[in-house]
This record gives sequence, structure tokens and C-alpha cells, in this order.
Amino acid sequence: MITLGIDIGGSATKGALVDTATGQLISERIRFETELMAKPKQVINCIYKICKELKYEGPIGAGYPGIVKNSISLTAANMHKQWINANVAEMIKAQTGQEAYVLNDADAAGLAEMRFGSPEAWKYPVVMFLTVGTGIGSAVFVKGQLMPNTEFGHLKVRGKDAEHRASDAVRQKDHLSWKRWAEKFTEVLRWYEFLLNPDLFILGGGISSRFDQYAKHLNIDTRIIPAKLENLAGIIGAAMAAQENLTK
Ligand code: BGC
Repeated sequence: MITLGIDIGGSATKGALVDTATGQLISERIRFETELMAKPKQVINCIYKICKELKYEGPIGAGYPGIVKNSISLTAANMHKQWINANVAEMIKAQTGQEAYVLNDADAAGLAEMRFGSPEAWKYPVVMFLTVGTGIGSAVFVKGQLMPNTEFGHLKVRGKDAEHRASDAVRQKDHLSWKRWAEKFTEVLRWYEFLLNPDLFILGGGISSRFDQYAKHLNIDTRIIPAKLENLAGIIGAAMAAQENLTK
């Protein structure tokens, strides 16, 4: 089934039509830049413009970078505080006229990666999928089942959120070499190993395509692989979630 998937981010909102049976994009990916820490109104307007540009009517899936329960966004680490306690699905419906399903962005990306990117991950009892971008997002799978809304990017590592130590935004802002960034990220991963004992890490987000440059500097005990869907996973997973939750 063809479904619109949306990936809401700290500085841009992206969307594309997805064939949820194959995980393939069947339209171009449309991207609208927003202000940093964008307000709901601006992002919802981007979603409306994506719908119009793709001439789409039907269920919409959207990944949001914070905790989402019953369509309501409860946190906004890298978004405007107006998002806190907003009913995102209702706002999307009010503007586009279409039903929407909203979930955490890393959960969406993890679902897509487990289904279409790295299906071999199913054989690992506990998988920790991480997206490293503006923040660090996490999606934990136990025997292939998602435990939603984990927030390991905010685990305190020596008094500071993990995502403030080793996100890709930090790497860029501080002009860190891949080696230096990998050392910082190793400290974060070591805490995840200690607390969760995963059998596999999957690393997603923009940095997954640069895996060869830093993999040798990651000093951990657990197997770690780059995500194959790279930064399309969020869009694909959001479409999958909408299809599963709105059309049955
Ligand atoms: C948010 C998470 C999100 C991650 C990646 C974090 O700051 O708290 O919910 O998954 O960023 O966008």
C-alpha cells in the first residue's frame, strides 16, 4: 500500500510516498527547511505542502523527535516548547484533512531498518538501534518487538546528556575528527552496553554512511553495524506505522 511518510526534524521536515510492502520510496523525497527548534505551526504547514506537492490523500505517518503517546508529543529536546502536550495527529488532520499516526522518529527509523534494512538483526535477542544526528535517538527491540519511546540520548554521561557529548551536531560544532568523535561515542556506547547488554547495535542517521571512517575507533564489546537505509529509514518507518495502525 502506498502511504505518505514524514520525518520531522530539528531543522527540516521531509516526506515521500512509500510502498509499505517493499519499503521502497515511490516518489522523490521532498524536504522543507524550517527554523531551528521549529514551532508546530511551521512544521504542520510543511506537511501540508508535501501532501499538496505529491497530490496525496490517505493516511499519513509522521516521526517526531521526542516521546509520543496517543498522538501527543510529550517532550521537545530539539524542538520548540510549544510541541509539549500537542496532539500532533489532530494538528495534521486539521490542516491536511487526512488521518495521521505519530510516533517517535527513532522508533520509526528502527522499525524500517529491522524490516527492510537489516532483517538479519531479528536473530539477535536484544537490538539497540541508534540514530545519530542533531540528537541521539534510540529504538530497542527485544526478539524483534519494539519497546517504544526509549530516550537513551538523554542518559547522563559524566553529568551531561549522551547527545550533548557525542551527537553528529556536536561533532560538527566542535570540528571533531572521526577518531575523536568515536572516542566520545565509545564512552556513550559503553554505558548502553553496561545498562542494557544488547546483542547488536545498529547505527543509523546521516553518519551511518561514514561508518568506515570511524568504526575502527569504536572500542566496545558488542557487534555494531551501520544501518542500510541511512536517512530514509525515518520516512519509511513512519509510513509503515501509519499503514499498520490506521488502515486495519
Ligand atoms: C529526542 C528523541 C529523538 C532523538 C533523535 C532526542 O533529543 O529526545 O526522542 O528520537 O533526539 O531525533
